[in-house]
Amino acid sequence: APPPPLAMPHSNMIEILPSLPLETRSLPLDLRCYNGFWVPERILRAIPDIHAGFETRPSDIFLASSPKSGTTWLKALAFTTLNRATYSPFDAGHPLRRCNPHDCAKFIEVHFDGVKDELEAIPSPRVLSTHLPYSMLPERVTGEDSGCRIVYICRNPKDVLVSGWLHFKKVSPKSVMGVQSFTLQEAFELFCQGRSLNGPQWQHVLQYWEESLRRPNKVLFLKYEEILCEPVVNLKKLAKFMGCAFEEEEEKGGVVDAIVELCSLPTLKDMEVNKSGHNYLTKNDGFFRKGVIGDWRNHLTPDMAEKLDKIVEEALQGSGLSF
Ligand code: A3P
Repeated sequence: APPPPLAMPHSNMIEILPSLPLETRSLPLDLRCYNGFWVPERILRAIPDIHAGFETRPSDIFLASSPKSGTTWLKALAFTTLNRATYSPFDAGHPLRRCNPHDCAKFIEVHFDGVKDELEAIPSPRVLSTHLPYSMLPERVTGEDSGCRIVYICRNPKDVLVSGWLHFKKVSPKSVMGVQSFTLQEAFELFCQGRSLNGPQWQHVLQYWEESLRRPNKVLFLKYEEILCEPVVNLKKLAKFMGCAFEEEEEKGGVVDAIVELCSLPTLKDMEVNKSGHNYLTKNDGFFRKGVIGDWRNHLTPDMAEKLDKIVEEALQGSGLSF
C-alpha cells in the first residue's frame, strides 16, 4: 500500500508549527513531530516552499536516507557513476578530489532558499538528495508521472544510533557549547522513542521499503551492509537503475573497481579536502569515521541492543524487511 496521505496540508505549516509536539533534548537540533516523524523545525518551515517551488526533471535521481546510514558514501558512488563520461574516475582532477560528496549532491530541504537557484543550474541528469521521509516528499518527486528515480540507503538501526551519537555530540552547536551533555543512554532512549533526526528511523526505512516494492523501477532500496560486503555487485545495480549500466568494456577496463576505490572510506577520508575542508553544511571530516558493520557492539549493552531490536522487529513485522 502507498504511504498514508499527509495528515495536514503543508500550506498551513507555519501556523500549525508552534502547536506540534516539541523535542528539545535531541541533537543536533530541536525537533517537532509532524505526521509521525520528528523533523527539525527549520526543515518543516521549508516544506511548503519545497512543495510549491521545487521544479523536478524526469531525469532527476534522488538519494534518500535516514541520517547516518551511509548518505555520504551513496552520494559519492552515485555522482561518480552518473557523471563518469564527463569526469573519469581515473582522473586526478575528479570533483571528488576537490569537493566533499555533500557538495556533489545537495539536500533539497536544507537551506532550500539558498540552494534553489544552484539546484536549477545543475545540468541534467542531476543527483539530488534528501533526508525527508517518503511521505513528506513533493508530489513532483513521487507522483506516478514524475519520472524521478529514488535510491534509498538503509543501515542497521543500532549502528545508525551509535554513528549519530558520536557525530552529533562532536559537531552539534548545542553539545559543543555544553548546552547538552547527550550521553549514549539519553541518545538511546530518544532513539527508541523515535525522537531522533527524522525518526523513527525504522518508519523512515519502512516507507521507502514499501515504495520500492510497489514501484521497483522508480525506487531502489539498498543496504549499507550489502554494499560494504559486495561493492561491485551493488554498484552495478545502482548504475543500471540510474539508466547508465556499465558497458562490458568499461568493466574490463577497471572502471567499476576504480569508482569503488575512489569512493571508499579510506580514499575519501585521506583526501585533503575531507581532512580540512568544509562543505555547504559543515566540516567535511565529521562524515568519515570507521565505516564498519556492527560497531554498536563497542558502545551498546546487550540489554540496549535487545530492547531496540525488539522495537524495530515489531515495527517491521510482516513487511519482508529485516536488519
Ligand atoms: P560510522 O560512524 O559508523 O563510521 P552518513 O553519511 O549518512 O552521515 O553516514 C555516516 C556513516 O557512514 C559513518 O559511519 C561513516 O564513517 C560512514 N561512511 C562515510 N563515508 C563512507 C564510505 N565512503 N564508505 C563507507 N562508509 C562511509
